[in-house]
Amino acid sequence: MQHLLVFIIGPAGSGKSTFTSSFKDWLLSQNVPVSTINMDPAVESLEYDPDIDIREFVFVRDVLEKYDLGPNGAIIASLDLAVEYLDKVTDQVNELPEGYVLVDTPGQMEIFAYRQSGRYIIKELCPLDRKCSAVFLIDATICMEPYDFLSQIFLSSSVYYRFRVPLLALINKIDLLDQKEREKIAKWVSEKDALENALEGIESVDKDFTRKIARMLSEYMEIVPFIPVSSKLSENFEEVYYYLHQIYRGGEDFE
Ligand code: GTP
Repeated sequence: MQHLLVFIIGPAGSGKSTFTSSFKDWLLSQNVPVSTINMDPAVESLEYDPDIDIREFVFVRDVLEKYDLGPNGAIIASLDLAVEYLDKVTDQVNELPEGYVLVDTPGQMEIFAYRQSGRYIIKELCPLDRKCSAVFLIDATICMEPYDFLSQIFLSSSVYYRFRVPLLALINKIDLLDQKEREKIAKWVSEKDALENALEGIESVDKDFTRKIARMLSEYMEIVPFIPVSSKLSENFEEVYYYLHQIYRGGEDFE
């Protein structure tokens, strides 16, 4: 059975669950087969009804009570415990119909991205014969200044190197930007030197270093597509689908 697992990763509040829910609905509206997995043991409510839910095996509130942990410790322990159930989750994944499988990951990105359990989950769910990718969500409202945008690109590149799967970076919540702000982001994303030029215009003591970083990250942006989207309004989902479909089926349609 052929699937494309798409891990939805991003900082807290960047819109992972909203994207999972609305992209699922959008794919269904295009007659594209899709399933969803919730891998966040701490989430209380979801806008979508996941086909597979890690909370069936581990729920953070139970862990918190059982081990008398604080909120962060309980989330870390829950994800570590989730690893124990991965063979069950894998069996469930194998039963899913062919198509896209959107995997919503824990709210606090650093717990999933930088602890061993997160990498282990990706490794177990992505054996060599299964296609996998990731989308990294960036909150557009916190990257309106050149340095802020630079730091978000950095963060996405850090996740890219951690997981080593094909990645798309989605600049989410663009419905909250005005026309001028949208154009600014679109320019930084599509014109090679635009971000570097914007950074040049800011007085700083580390201009040479910043220029080097900007050039390096502009090369990274040639490998990883950056796509402005609105998960709330399903804006630019065609473009997201285009890139994912290249990864999945080289652009070929479903039968
Ligand atoms: P945690 O897992 O709790 O860290 O959050 P998350 O990354 O899953 O984000 P979630 O989907 O819960 O969204 C966080 C907030 O951003 C919610 O209030 C969403 O309604 C809002 N949101 C998400 N995407 C968009 C968007 O495209 N536009 C707007 N305006 N709001 C959005």
